[in-house]
Amino acid sequence: MRESILIVDDEPRIRELMLEILESDGFRVVACESGPRALERLRRDSFQLILTDLMMPGMDGLTLVRKARALDPTLAAVILTGHASTDSAVSALRSGVDDYLVKPFEVDELREVIRRTFERQRERLASEELLAMLGAARPADESASTTLHDRIRCAQAELQAAESKLHRRTRELEVLREITRTGAYGYDLDGWLEHSLEAICRGLDVAHGRIFLEDEGRLRVRVRFGAESASSAHEFVSVPLRAGNKSIGLLHLAGRNGAGGFPSGVAEALAAMAGGIAAAIENHRLVKCVRETQLQATYALVQGMEAKDSYLRGHSDRVTRYALDTARAIGLPAESQAVLRYAGQLHDVGKIGVPEAILHKPGKLEPEEFETLKTHVEIGAQIVKHLDFLGEARPVIRHHHERWDGKGYPAGLAGGEIPFLATIIAVADSYDAMTSDRRYRRAMNRDQAASELRRGAGSQWSPAIVDAFLRTSIVSPTAVPLEVA
Ligand SMILES: [Fe+2]
Repeated sequence: MRESILIVDDEPRIRELMLEILESDGFRVVACESGPRALERLRRDSFQLILTDLMMPGMDGLTLVRKARALDPTLAAVILTGHASTDSAVSALRSGVDDYLVKPFEVDELREVIRRTFERQRERLASEELLAMLGAARPADESASTTLHDRIRCAQAELQAAESKLHRRTRELEVLREITRTGAYGYDLDGWLEHSLEAICRGLDVAHGRIFLEDEGRLRVRVRFGAESASSAHEFVSVPLRAGNKSIGLLHLAGRNGAGGFPSGVAEALAAMAGGIAAAIENHRLVKCVRETQLQATYALVQGMEAKDSYLRGHSDRVTRYALDTARAIGLPAESQAVLRYAGQLHDVGKIGVPEAILHKPGKLEPEEFETLKTHVEIGAQIVKHLDFLGEARPVIRHHHERWDGKGYPAGLAGGEIPFLATIIAVADSYDAMTSDRRYRRAMNRDQAASELRRGAGSQWSPAIVDAFLRTSIVSPTAVPLEVA
């Protein structure tokens, strides 16, 4: 009798494609578009295997498998899943589904999973049959009993092998889940690649791994895991990283821990992992590109505003440079420096919403004019609100005019209440204002500005930041990095 398969998928295109392939392979195949329809069919027809999509409206694949098994406990089950639902696929394998297939899949992958599942089902049924026969055998018939024991031992060994294969598949899927769960959407692509490569190497018991990325037409090692050894050169697998039709790199693993080398079928798991990595790299590039465009457009606002006023020209660039020098002097991590770079460039972007008559007024501002000028911090925070990746820079922009003694604006925050990076921008901003010409006064020299900072440390500015600032090469040519508690 032909082996029979029940396909369940709500996407007609995938359903028909699988039906066509499996029918041409000689199976008896029936396709249904939903879980309830499939159960209806199972009540009047028998199948050896159910191949069902995981995510379907009405009834999901796991519920369907559970209900189908209640009708026929011998039914083998394979789940179709997308990358995003690998969590469910892992729990599916743990809850007794025989295998899974990640969409989109190759025709050969489908055939291999079906072949493997039928093979495992035959082993399981044969073993159960033998156990039943043993139970029925008479103890007096020694030779028959011994033969049955041998056959059962054999079947049990086969079952164990199948179980360890399943265990390996589960671990592979967990690695894939780890890769797709974290994604490379931040700016730290290398950190993410290192994390993913480590997860792959540990998940597959591999001693050494490398990820190569295309760089100006050449493959260069981007990240590596573990130490290379002479023995690892003998046994390795390499999988291309592809974005669409374009090759963007290579995942290379070498030196499998323990005996037995790379198991058959590992290439299939690696291809899925390489697909996850390649997709994340492409996403990262796209996100970075969009962010850069948004940033350039926002920087252009600042530059346009500064271009109108010769006294302001270059102010944001200098504030950024001073703030970054200070950040490096106190050993701030790269992520904080990145936030500071945005905040420095954009700290006064809100001045675009302040009338030019106030911005360019020669001489002292009237109290109400000063109140209007103060709104630039709130306007700036509003402008960057829509750029989600500038989330951490927003409070820095909003609070860069707070004072250490709480007499600043907009919120009157004091001391440690002020966002830390805003205290750096405040010092850098003030120093540049003091050392630049204004319509109503000449610039101070470096020493005068430094004395002003010293005088205002603890009242207008953070004493620790003033201390750090004064020891940078901005004001002190023999600067030494220092620590701030
Ligand atoms: Fe400002």
